[in-house]
Amino acid sequence: INLVFVDASGERREVSSVEGRSLMEAASLSGIPGIDADCGGACACATCQVYVDADWLSRLPPIGESESNMLEFAANRHESSRLACQIKLTPELDGLTVTTPEFQF
Ligand code: FES
Repeated sequence: INLVFVDASGERREVSSVEGRSLMEAASLSGIPGIDADCGGACACATCQVYVDADWLSRLPPIGESESNMLEFAANRHESSRLACQIKLTPELDGLTVTTPEFQF
């Protein structure tokens, strides 16, 4: 499953990962900067926020209530914000492109 992370300065990094991992795990295993993930994926910190590309937003499973509530604590929440730890990788998400924020808080 190929993923594209664009950082706040516009630099693209392509990584590949496997089904069942979360987007946050894929990012940290590949050393993607800009995702702190302080809580380790428990949907309890909001420091794994990413901005999902418009093309992909509607193709993700809808945002969960706890994810949405936690995003209220995120810095600079956008319409396209999601928590990377709550996005499970599936083959349908091959090519998923997200931007990482400059700061997580
Ligand atoms: Fe903490 Fe995602 S890693 S909310």
